[in-house]
Amino acid sequence: MDFAHFDKRNCPVVSARSGYGEWAAHYDATVAEGLDRPLLGALRSVQWPEVRSAVDLACGTGRTGVWLAQQGVRVIDGVDLTPEMLERARARQVYRTLQVADIASTGLPSSGYDLCTMVLADEHLADLRPVYREAARLLGTGGSFVVVGFHPYFLMNGIPTHYHRASGEAVTIESHVHLFSAHVAAAADAGLRLDECREGVIDDAWLRDKPKWQKYLHWPVSFAFAWRRPGV
Ligand SMILES: C[S@@+](CC[C@H](N)C(=O)[O-])C[C@H]1O[C@@H](n2cnc3c(N)ncnc32)[C@H](O)[C@@H]1O
Repeated sequence: MDFAHFDKRNCPVVSARSGYGEWAAHYDATVAEGLDRPLLGALRSVQWPEVRSAVDLACGTGRTGVWLAQQGVRVIDGVDLTPEMLERARARQVYRTLQVADIASTGLPSSGYDLCTMVLADEHLADLRPVYREAARLLGTGGSFVVVGFHPYFLMNGIPTHYHRASGEAVTIESHVHLFSAHVAAAADAGLRLDECREGVIDDAWLRDKPKWQKYLHWPVSFAFAWRRPGV
């Protein structure tokens, strides 16, 4: 579903490529780490230190790559659409390779990875099925696909992924709403099996970091799925 159905703010809408190109310079200072870090840390179905090689889909500035490296993942490749985001990821020196590509068609080798991650990017995809198929292609047998996303509840309440220009103007990045059933259907289509699902809720810990979010207390703000490519 197009986010436009739920938009209450009616800010200018830009494409992901153009929006992240503009946001890249201050993305790391403004992204809410509470969206993904607690969920990644809570996942029990992925043994991070045992991952030999990972591919970080829509790696952006490399926040997830840094986190994976801290968990003991040694080899990480990154893919993203936006060169300005990738420049920042390159500076972090945790990726083996970084390339500009669509995450639905990376060109990376089949069955080459124990782990695929896609963090805070699913809302920019009109259709989830191609990226789930690509993740399934990239994973070896038993490999995990970890998807962390901005919760559809927030999008459906009219709050999109957005950033502020230097002028203060708020800009929405083109977004789509995917219900959890769409993730389940895309994963099933790709032959992936669910290991784990978690949701993050705005709580007191979140408000200590971001007191302005008080009005959203108890709202679900993010989600994590861990899918597995089963053996044949
Ligand atoms: C919110 S950022 C998330 C970046 C990083 N994963 C993180 O958690 O900080 C979304 C990223 O998705 C990328 N992106 C959006 N659509 C994409 C696509 N079809 N293929 C590749 N990258 C895409 C954008 O360029 C941007 O870097």
